[in-house]
Amino acid sequence: MKKLVGIMALGSALGLGSVAGQAGEVEVLHWWTSGGEAKALGELKSTLESQGVSWKDMPVAGGGGSSAMTVLRSRVMSGQAPTAVQMMGFDILDWGQEGVVANLNGVAAEEGWDAVVPAALQKFAKYDGQWIAAPVNIHSTNWVWGNKALLSKLNIAVPESWNDFIEAMEKVKAAGFVALAHGGQAWQDATVFDGVVMATGGVDFYRKALIELDQEALTSDTMRQVFDRMRQLRGLVDDNFPGRDWNLASAMVINGDAAFQMMGDWAKGEFLNAGKVPGTDFVCFRTPGSQGAVVFNTDQFAMFEVDAERQDAQLKMASAVLSPEFQVAFNTVKGSVPVRTDISDEAFDACGKKAMADLREAVTKDTLVGSMAHGHAAPAAVKSALYDVVTAHFNGTMSSDEAVTQLAASIQNAF
Ligand code: BGC
Repeated sequence: MKKLVGIMALGSALGLGSVAGQAGEVEVLHWWTSGGEAKALGELKSTLESQGVSWKDMPVAGGGGSSAMTVLRSRVMSGQAPTAVQMMGFDILDWGQEGVVANLNGVAAEEGWDAVVPAALQKFAKYDGQWIAAPVNIHSTNWVWGNKALLSKLNIAVPESWNDFIEAMEKVKAAGFVALAHGGQAWQDATVFDGVVMATGGVDFYRKALIELDQEALTSDTMRQVFDRMRQLRGLVDDNFPGRDWNLASAMVINGDAAFQMMGDWAKGEFLNAGKVPGTDFVCFRTPGSQGAVVFNTDQFAMFEVDAERQDAQLKMASAVLSPEFQVAFNTVKGSVPVRTDISDEAFDACGKKAMADLREAVTKDTLVGSMAHGHAAPAAVKSALYDVVTAHFNGTMSSDEAVTQLAASIQNAF
């Protein structure tokens, strides 16, 4: 840690830290590169520009943010930390521990963040009692998106149970359409896995296996059944799925080439960006079997220590992100829900209203859990161990038994 701080100090002594930045500019590293994501981010750019803050964009594509995190590390090591970085869960806490982040306590106190941001989010926005990140949104991963016209044409109702869901997809496949639009990338396989674990084992099992990392749960029959179900899904994707980006999979559902996509609610941003209306053109429903539970992730802007001349713009950005107006403008476009508990659902569409109601219910019933795929269940090393096994199983011929054994062992070795 000391070494890293030393390198940063050298970087700013050489003037590296201020190469990109002048007063009134924020340099922002993020992975919001799809059509819907870029549109949502545009809301932040224009809000800041209206306050005289210019935007230096550093996009690094790749859902889940692994590639963005790699770029970040090399930037920080060379003394060129960006002003703000889109970041999730345990990664934020890791950077807090490195001691290279900004202190947002002043703006947080002035604007009363403690009172309006839910505890589940504060857990990742603060390190050692200090606000180090500005929470932007709340997403969740246990969603399915369906093409309404195609489902009507095939006389398929929104499935309530896992077996109904599989039956519906078999029917789609038999009719010559793609049942499940999916992109074979590790983070997408893991995103599907989040929902399957919840649908198969319920909240207590999800917590035990993916948050407490309990060996008994990891090696249980329930986990074996989770992998059996992943294998069922593998039989319902098309042949061209390897490597496909998530937004191209969304496009298959949008265009009616495929019936369903299992993806976080950022997928809704793609439907909206294509001019589609929930309830009319597409349906959103929870991964069948996981109704009542919310597997969440929250994108936050982790703020890095910057030169005095860049601090003003950084604080303006933090303040803008938490403002009620921005929360509505951004989240209605992005597919996520606000991070403030004092915002009405009036401006949100049917899926957004459902997401907000589901979240309230999950907080009340204690069925809100962090997403493993998106960094809110366990630290990065465990997440990447899980990615490896889930993706090797999904893309290969590994049996459920082998997958269970490998998952439990590689999670144990990740510490
Ligand atoms: C982020 C979303 C983003 C998605 C795909 C997730 O990790 O939380 O905001 O839209 O990745 O890029």
